[in-house]
Amino acid sequence: MTTLTETLLCPERADDVASVADLPAVLPVVGRDTLVPLVDGREVRYANLDVAASAPALQAVADRVNQVLPLYASVHRGAGYLSQVSTALYEAARRAIGAFVGAREDDVTIVTRNTTDSLNLLAGCVPADPVTGEPGRVLVLDVEHHANFLPWQRDAAATVLTGRGTVAETLAEIRAELRSAAVEGRPYALLALTGASNVTGEALPVAEVVAAAHDAGARVLLDGAQLVPHRRLSLAETGVDYVAFSGHKTYAPFGAGALVGRRDWLDVGTPYLAGGGAVRRVRVGGTEWHDGPARHEAGSPNVVGAVALAAACEALAALDPAEVREHEDALRRRLVAGLEALDRVEVVRVWSDAADPVGVVTFTVAGYDPGLVAAYLSAEHGIGVRDGRFCAHPLLGRLGFDAGAVRASVGVGTTGEEVERLVAAVAALVAEGPQARYDVVDGLWVVVDDPRPVPEGSGLEGLLATAALGADEAFGCLPD
Ligand SMILES: Cc1ncc(COP(=O)(O)O)c(C=O)c1O
Repeated sequence: MTTLTETLLCPERADDVASVADLPAVLPVVGRDTLVPLVDGREVRYANLDVAASAPALQAVADRVNQVLPLYASVHRGAGYLSQVSTALYEAARRAIGAFVGAREDDVTIVTRNTTDSLNLLAGCVPADPVTGEPGRVLVLDVEHHANFLPWQRDAAATVLTGRGTVAETLAEIRAELRSAAVEGRPYALLALTGASNVTGEALPVAEVVAAAHDAGARVLLDGAQLVPHRRLSLAETGVDYVAFSGHKTYAPFGAGALVGRRDWLDVGTPYLAGGGAVRRVRVGGTEWHDGPARHEAGSPNVVGAVALAAACEALAALDPAEVREHEDALRRRLVAGLEALDRVEVVRVWSDAADPVGVVTFTVAGYDPGLVAAYLSAEHGIGVRDGRFCAHPLLGRLGFDAGAVRASVGVGTTGEEVERLVAAVAALVAEGPQARYDVVDGLWVVVDDPRPVPEGSGLEGLLATAALGADEAFGCLPD
């Protein structure tokens, strides 16, 4: 029974969110027509509702990569014509990536591998406390993805604040902690916060967070992994000091990510990688390091990845941000309403008053292990979702979802039909249970005697062969 308060706080619970079956994608993505096999022998168009993990390439990104590949040569190292073209492409990509997140004139844009890489890099650059010489203090919440948690725990002096049930209470906690630390002479250097939760899509309001941190003399790092692909962020307009994000979540899965932000810490921080390109002069007795992005980009740069990410940034920048928000929010609201209308389905929330979440919806189905739900959605409906604890163990533990949950996520390439399929598939699970037989092999839910063939031309031996190998050998240590 839905209470009036719940309905007011979460309007989508009112069950009146109309079908979005006719909603088309905002931008074409590669693979949108890929057929996948089901256990009953049919083939269906793959519904990729796992874009928060990795988003498919925008068609514009793939086109740009194909365009520049014939021009590809060494970067920053060659006198050849194409080397110079590739170097220019790489540096132009850097400018486009920085511009997309509203970099200030003096900000540095470093091309990294992904968000994790960017956060590890910055963790090595937080200055020591000028009075005590101790490692710089960093404040984080327990809602973070491990990528925005572990680097601070390992390389800086991290304090972890437990989030509260509402945005307002959590903001008050943050303000109080920042203020009292400053008054007591142990100020924080940095507040490292998610721009959007990878579990629920929710976030704290950026303006309030920045004001609270700057008032107490701390800088703000936004983990933009789930924010940047879905909402327009401007460092210059918001005052956010650093943002980290991933190309593969920004429709550019070519191995690049970015860290953008204030120059001073990055210019003197420990070079992230020691090696060629990061140095001005090397002598046996000592080394003179570069400043700027080169300081942290030793080794041959990923020019294709950078160009791909820049192409994605340009394609997203060309869209009306309101159109993207409206599209993704219509899909999210429909998912929440459709799932919450089902018996035994619970949708996870961090804050009861969060405004404007991005399109990430995490849920559980009572009586079914999340891994089984995800295997069922794939095997019987051709739908890709993520299950587990989403590399956010502290949050899932605090919210009482230690056994994990299922996450569906949407983006500019998602259609309403895909969302309707998920809601219908979960409804069928609740009503009738799975039709195939499933078992746990090496910790993974799989279909017993899975008959699905591997895609032609993929060069794989088969899903069955993968399962037979055992999850550990096939995938190494799976993130949970
Ligand atoms: C909020 C958040 N931060 C950081 C990461 C890590 O991103 P990557 O794996 O691209 O380094 C993720 C990935 O899911 C994420 O969702």
